[in-house]
Amino acid sequence: MRVLLTRRMPPDAAELLSGAGFAVELIDAHESPPADELRRRAAGVDAILCTLSERIDAPLLDAAGSRLRIVANLAVGYENIDVDACRARRVWATNTPGVLTDATADLTWALILATARRVVEGDALVRRGAWPGWAPLQLLGRELRGATLGVVGAGRIGAAVGTRAAPFGMNVIYAHPRVSPELEAAGARRVTLSELLAASDFVSLHVPMREENRRLIGRPQLAAMKPGAILINTARGAVIDEAALVEGLRAGRPAAAGLDVYEREPRLSPGLAELPNVVLLPHLGSATTQARSRMAEMAARNIIAALSGRQPPNPIGGASDPPPRA
Ligand code: GLV
Repeated sequence: MRVLLTRRMPPDAAELLSGAGFAVELIDAHESPPADELRRRAAGVDAILCTLSERIDAPLLDAAGSRLRIVANLAVGYENIDVDACRARRVWATNTPGVLTDATADLTWALILATARRVVEGDALVRRGAWPGWAPLQLLGRELRGATLGVVGAGRIGAAVGTRAAPFGMNVIYAHPRVSPELEAAGARRVTLSELLAASDFVSLHVPMREENRRLIGRPQLAAMKPGAILINTARGAVIDEAALVEGLRAGRPAAAGLDVYEREPRLSPGLAELPNVVLLPHLGSATTQARSRMAEMAARNIIAALSGRQPPNPIGGASDPPPRA
């Protein structure tokens, strides 16, 4: 059976798949392949191991053909996959939950600290030789102790971000449809999104990219943030109206932003990169050697299960999905 890997990735996936007796075909590039190349290379394969940059839609599934049994995403988010189109063709779709939670929560904190203490502005000042030496009023930031962290979306990653706040002496509030036992145990309080925006010094976004979360943070929500507040996004770019954020940052509401994700990656909204009060990362949430290797292993294990006629361990939509064709 043939398994297509859509681009270079940690070797764990190919090793496990070849060890299980499958023929691994790699599109040997760092970048995501163009859609027509992906369709061509997918023809006749039994499984596709893809990344969040490849659009897995009906034309791709049809180009792959009737042997295809599983599309395994090397990501926890899966808005790149048309899950209904997979289901209609009785193709499993799987993701990699859990294994990148700590990596993404750590990176969120890197952005919280970088924005609060103006780390990137300071680095730039030193590098361009413009640092005049220590000065009492130079690049003043803000302290975390006593500040309120608002976590929007208290799933695995949101909860991991919130529970890391205690040693910094922060208060945590969160907006989520359900109570988060982990956050409650850490002393956090559940509030509505409007209450959260009004009360938080740091707002950190952790909702999945569902349609109802598209531009969840737009002009009115930015205007509702507390003066001086900082916005952090390590979820998905489209959760924020990026053009409105550029305007907001120019006007100081929010005071600063730390972004790892963008509405139209890898492109940025005009003006964003020119702003001094924003820290911009290139979608590094899960970019640790350990997390990427666990993600590759998890995706491969999903494929091995599906191609062996078993339910994969991480089906999107849960185990109630229709089983794939025999
Ligand atoms: C990364 O953004 C992921 O969804 O895993």
